Amino acid sequence: MQRRKFMKIIGGSAALLAGGTYIWAAPTAKSARAAWTEAGQYIDPIRSALSYAILAPNPHNRQPWLVELISDTEAVLYCDEDRHLPVTDPIDRQITIGLGCFLELFDVAASNNSYRADIELFSLGAHTSRLDARPVARLLLTPVKQKFDPLFTQIINRRTDRSPFSEQVPNLQNLTALQEAAGSLSGASTRTELVSQLRRVCHEAARIEIMTSHTHGESVELMRVGRKAVKENPDGISIEGAMIEILNVGRAISKEALANHGATAFKQGKQMYLDAVNSAKGFFWVVTSDNSRANQIAAGRAYVRGNLKATELGLSMHPLSQALQEYPEMAEQLVDVHKIMNIDAPARLQMLARVGYGKAQMQSPRWSLDSRIRA
Ligand SMILES: Cc1cc2nc3c(=O)[nH]c(=O)nc-3n(C[C@H](O)[C@H](O)[C@H](O)COP(=O)(O)O)c2cc1C
Repeated sequence: MQRRKFMKIIGGSAALLAGGTYIWAAPTAKSARAAWTEAGQYIDPIRSALSYAILAPNPHNRQPWLVELISDTEAVLYCDEDRHLPVTDPIDRQITIGLGCFLELFDVAASNNSYRADIELFSLGAHTSRLDARPVARLLLTPVKQKFDPLFTQIINRRTDRSPFSEQVPNLQNLTALQEAAGSLSGASTRTELVSQLRRVCHEAARIEIMTSHTHGESVELMRVGRKAVKENPDGISIEGAMIEILNVGRAISKEALANHGATAFKQGKQMYLDAVNSAKGFFWVVTSDNSRANQIAAGRAYVRGNLKATELGLSMHPLSQALQEYPEMAEQLVDVHKIMNIDAPARLQMLARVGYGKAQMQSPRWSLDSRIRA
């Protein structure tokens, strides 16, 4: 019995291809989640807004943000060059989207504090093949009259939900509300034929990513198994739970085992992710007119607004990014998903997420704001 439970937990790890938290039960690393309660507990306006921004969704929970504080109302945002995903995100498209999510939450949180956020993107030029040491954005806060954005209240409730979704299909009113919140780059549908085509391509893409050793290996390297590992590195793919602690799995399990295609754990994990993909009842997406850095940022801003609105509506959202990625093994799926969506180059599908009704999720871990501030 214990062994079966154990395998189920470990199996969950491989299901977390693109980063996240799989919590089977308490105990979890509370300190790794302190950022969720510390948000807004700062007096100066820049730190206050930044303390919400670090709660943004981001690929593999890499938390690629690094901030230089200039004053109480000014800062410069950089990409932390140690926090790329070189295998599955070779041109930093997803990392840039994550930084876009960060900037949107910064903006929403600033307005809640009666500040307008001026965000100047790529002031020393747009980064080309990779994000480099130049600024991603210069941030300036200016006091204004209260301009409350109702989505603000959802920042601390927002999650990525990787659980299988129920049979309940989101209604048209909710889909419209998602698109209104996320803006003109976004779309959503529960049309049966489209949902089944998107499920098929997402399923195949996820299968390829899991079965390709160097792409899956990138995920395995970022797995944090057990409370101690999550506390030490509150990022990446966190795997926590009572059984993990009881069986001392965090120390017993090796990266090699997590990557072994023959292991029961690997097979179960793969099946869990594919089952989650198959439970999609609808999709939400973000498309941009081209794949420029500015548009990747805009895509992140739109995505997180959709994610916040979904939270408000009691809907779950889960990005399925495998088919959108740029590595050679995924080339066919990248073309296929654009065909299904009728998107012609240079336009680009930037985010594709399943939407439906899942289960309550824990917050994902975060590095503290202080640790993300450049000396
Ligand atoms: C650009 C982007 C791509 C993502 N792709 C995936 C994905 O393919 N699969 C997945 O499970 N989560 C994906 N996520 C969700 C992140 O893993 C998640 O935001 C991160 O682990 C932090 O968790 P949270 O959103 O619950 O705070 C993606 C997020 C972003 C911003």
